[in-house]
Amino acid sequence: MSKTILVLPGDGIGPEIMAEARKVLDKLNAQHNLGIKVEEDVVGGAAIDADGVPLPDRTLAKARAADAILFGSIGGPKWDNIERSIRPERGLLKLRSELGLFANLRPAILYPQLAGASSLKPEIVAGLDILIVRELTGGIYFGQPRGIRTLENGEREGYNTDIYRESEIRRIAKVAFELAAKRGNKVCSVDKANVMEVTELWKQVVTEVAKDYPAAQLSHMYVDNAAMQLVRAPKQFDVIVTGNLFGDILSDEASMLTGSIGMLPSASLDESGKGMYEPCHGSAPDIAGQGVANPLATILSLAMLFRYSLNLPQVATQIEQAVGKVLDQGLRTADIYSEGTRKVGTKEMGDAVVAAL
Ligand code: IPM
Ligand code: MG
Repeated sequence: MSKTILVLPGDGIGPEIMAEARKVLDKLNAQHNLGIKVEEDVVGGAAIDADGVPLPDRTLAKARAADAILFGSIGGPKWDNIERSIRPERGLLKLRSELGLFANLRPAILYPQLAGASSLKPEIVAGLDILIVRELTGGIYFGQPRGIRTLENGEREGYNTDIYRESEIRRIAKVAFELAAKRGNKVCSVDKANVMEVTELWKQVVTEVAKDYPAAQLSHMYVDNAAMQLVRAPKQFDVIVTGNLFGDILSDEASMLTGSIGMLPSASLDESGKGMYEPCHGSAPDIAGQGVANPLATILSLAMLFRYSLNLPQVATQIEQAVGKVLDQGLRTADIYSEGTRKVGTKEMGDAVVAAL
């Protein structure tokens, strides 16, 4: 049966990096006769401009119908001052929550060719392979009540609610343990249980789930310490499982260990393995339109799409190897450039990956 992929380029550098991922997808589609149908639509700021909302019903319907979604990036200064409830970011959050994409997988893998691009010493990061499993549809990003209110004395007060149900913690913990079993079988659960009740429950539930995975090694770490350990001795980690907010922050931090956030793909999966795939980086408005953005995170997200949603691991590996080859050839976009390598733009990088397939 033919599969459908919905492509959502979004804003900023989104369209540029997506164009390169599309070339890779089109090439593989033809090369292996996959018969994949590709649809495209707007989301985020582009959707606000076209439809007045960051996630039009049409886009959401296409996302529901698709077998997988490849997402670029959203947001930019142009839409920063519109009402919060229809900002670009809300489009992404709504897409994640409407589709039940609760499990966000963010691998931070250091390509050996990029050891010099990391801000840490090569010996600290060489061989780094961390998987951050971030809960994506709960916690403080969705908790109610939330808002900005004016108190009686006229002072304004902002508030959010960090809230997790046992069932939400249990299902993300399971995902972490299942994935850990296929790699180092070490899970570090990150919380702030010394201060926040919601994460005290998090810690308890993860500990309960661990009983079903006796071979796994579970540890717990406060988020402040985890942030420090990630730059002190990152190789101590295998799988990190944590809530929405901490996962958002720690995954940006982990990405820098690998040289550039421009290299980091991600997968957001529902209970059945349907998923949305997106680079971890944002829309980078400062470099949008210049043709210098790194398309590799999006191309590697496409690889994850083949692996997790289309069940074609050999195609995923083919993409990953092509990226490795291109790095071996010394091609670098500005974000991963170092002396002795060759600086290329977005298109040239995409073309090189296609050629290496
Ligand atoms: C991410 C981004 C998003 C998030 C924003 C754009 C809403 O930072 O995917 O990490 O916070 O989840
Ligand atoms: Mg983020």
